[in-house]
Amino acid sequence: MIDFSDAPLYGRIEGLKLVLNKLEKVRPTNVFIIETGTTRGDLGGGPEGDGWATPLFGWYCKKNGGTTWTIDIEEEAISQCREITKEYADQITYFVGDSSEIIQKANVHVDLLYLDSANDPLIALNELKAAEKNITDKTIIYIDDTSMKTKRVGGICKGVLVFNYLFQKGWDVTFDNGHQIIMEKSTSDHRNFFATLFANFKTNRIYKRVLRKGAI
Ligand SMILES: C[S@@+](CC[C@H](N)C(=O)[O-])C[C@H]1O[C@@H](n2cnc3c(N)ncnc32)[C@H](O)[C@@H]1O
Repeated sequence: MIDFSDAPLYGRIEGLKLVLNKLEKVRPTNVFIIETGTTRGDLGGGPEGDGWATPLFGWYCKKNGGTTWTIDIEEEAISQCREITKEYADQITYFVGDSSEIIQKANVHVDLLYLDSANDPLIALNELKAAEKNITDKTIIYIDDTSMKTKRVGGICKGVLVFNYLFQKGWDVTFDNGHQIIMEKSTSDHRNFFATLFANFKTNRIYKRVLRKGAI
């Protein structure tokens, strides 16, 4: 278990702790993390609202070895992130640009993909597809503002299309706290016919709701 006692300030505590503990088991050192949507200062909602994952990823990479790519379309967001994460700057590569375009520049496999940019399920799906050539069976996919539970706690479900795309390819939701999900490749490639049908049904229902509510 990772000792987080000297970690920087961050939110999404349950999910971020779990995902990094999973990551350490899968690849103890020299990790490659990609995060879409960066940690901002006064442009954003702080550790509670935004999550502040970038400093935590930087801290983790400094401790365990590795690199985090953080991508944001807003130049000011990246500039604020540089300030917040300056202690870990050697471990972080900062990109200003569209997430799907930048992700394609990666040429090694990604150990942790954190999708946390626009509140738009199609953008999240494009990010996932852009990363696909670098995703292995051991890659951990972590998505913010998403839950596949029948009764969602609140907010929008930006990862709903990614969920279904991965589920159909044999990935399972291994964590869902009503706000974020983690998906990992199942040990079995076999997909139960009814489970597939149910995933399609649930995805359509949630995606329609997201479109109807005008959240995107
Ligand atoms: C919720 S914030 C990210 C929070 C951050 N991951 C954290 O843990 O603190 C979402 C960010 O995504 C950025 N964004 C939106 N669409 C984007 C896109 N297509 N490509 C890259 N960044 C995008 C926004 O500018 C915004 O700064």
